[in-house]
Amino acid sequence: MTAGGLCLAIETSCDETACAVVADGSTVVANLVSSQTAIHREFGGVVPELASRQHLRVLAGLVDEAMRKSRLRFSDLGCIAVTVGPGLIGALLVGVSYAKALGYAAKLPVVPVNHITGHIYANFLGGWQPEFPALCLVVSGGHTSLVLMSGDGRLTEIGRTRDDAAGEAFDKVARVLGLAYPGGPALERLAASGRGDAVALPRARLEPGSFDFSFSGLKTAVLYLVRGSPQNQSLSAGGAYLSPADIAASFQAAVVDMLVDRTVAAARHFGVRQVWLAGGVAANRHLRKQLGMALHQEGIGLHAPPPEFCTDNAAMIGVAGYMAWQRGVRAGWNFTAVADLAVGEEVS
Ligand code: KG4
Ligand code: ZN
Repeated sequence: MTAGGLCLAIETSCDETACAVVADGSTVVANLVSSQTAIHREFGGVVPELASRQHLRVLAGLVDEAMRKSRLRFSDLGCIAVTVGPGLIGALLVGVSYAKALGYAAKLPVVPVNHITGHIYANFLGGWQPEFPALCLVVSGGHTSLVLMSGDGRLTEIGRTRDDAAGEAFDKVARVLGLAYPGGPALERLAASGRGDAVALPRARLEPGSFDFSFSGLKTAVLYLVRGSPQNQSLSAGGAYLSPADIAASFQAAVVDMLVDRTVAAARHFGVRQVWLAGGVAANRHLRKQLGMALHQEGIGLHAPPPEFCTDNAAMIGVAGYMAWQRGVRAGWNFTAVADLAVGEEVS
C-alpha cells in the first residue's frame, strides 16, 4: 500500500448510511451499510426528513465501527471522501458536515465526491484496469444516463432519461404489483418465475440518433394492465392467463430491451471497447446477462461491479474520492452539499 493510500468514505445521499475504508482506490478494507428500508417501508418510499434524522443517529457509530474493523487510527488515513450530491439535501448535509468536522479535527483533507461518479468508480474495485474511451450505463433510482468516459475524471453525459429513472420505474411497477419497497429486487425475484414474452409491452423509440431513454409509457401501460383487471391475481392479455410474475417478467424484459438497445447503439457510435454498468439497477441479473450478450456480438466487453457495490455504498465513494485526490482535486473547507449536482460535475 502506498503512503496515504487509505481513504475513509462517507455516503448519506439517500436512505443508506454508509461508511467504508478503501486502500489505494481499489481494495475494500471495511464496508458498512446501515439501511433505512424498514423505516421508510410503511410510507412506500423515502421520507426525506426521516432519512436525515436516521443518518444523524447512526453515522458517528458507523464511522467508529469502520475504523475499529480496519484496526486503523485517523492518523493512518490519507483522506476522507464524502458524497456531496446529487441526493436529498438534508441527508447529504449530515454526511458533508460530519466529514468536514472530522477532517478538520483529524487534520485530513476532505474530498467531495459526486454520487454518480461514485457509482461509476465502483467498477475500479478489485484493481481492474480500464480501457478508455469507455461508455457507462448508469441506472439507479434517481438516474438513467449514458456517460462517455474519455479518461479518469473526464465524464460527459451523452444520453439520459426524459422522465422516470429505470429504478424508479421498477419501484413504481413493483408497487402496482403489491410488492414491498424497495421494489426493484422484489420485482426481479417475482419475474424469475414469469414469462418475459407473456405480454407485449411498449418500448419507447425516441428520434434516431438520440441516446435518451423514456420509461413512463411502459410504466403507464403496466398500470392500465393491472388496474384494468378486477384483481391482481388473474389478468389476461388476448384471453391468455397472465400472472403477476408474467407481468413482472414482461416489464423487466421491456426495460432491459430499451437499455440494451440504446447502450449498444451508443457504444457503436462512439467506438468504445468497454461498457461499464453502474447504479442499483446494475445489480439486476437479466440486465447484466442481456447487455453482456448483445455487446459480445459487437466485440465489446462489459464490466460490472459485484452486485453489493452496485446499490448505494461508501466503498465506491472511497474509490472515486481517492482517485480524485490522486489527480489533484482539492476542496477548501467551504464546500457544501448540492442536491441537484449534474452528472460529471465536480465541487471544489
Ligand atoms: O443506486 P441506488 O442504490 O440508489 C440511487 O442512487 O438511486 O439504486 C436504487 C434503485 C432502486 O430503484 C432499486 O429498486 C433499484 O435500484 N434496484 C434494482 C435491483 N436492485 C436495486 N432494480 C432492479 N433489479 C434489481 N436487482
Ligand atoms: Zn445511488
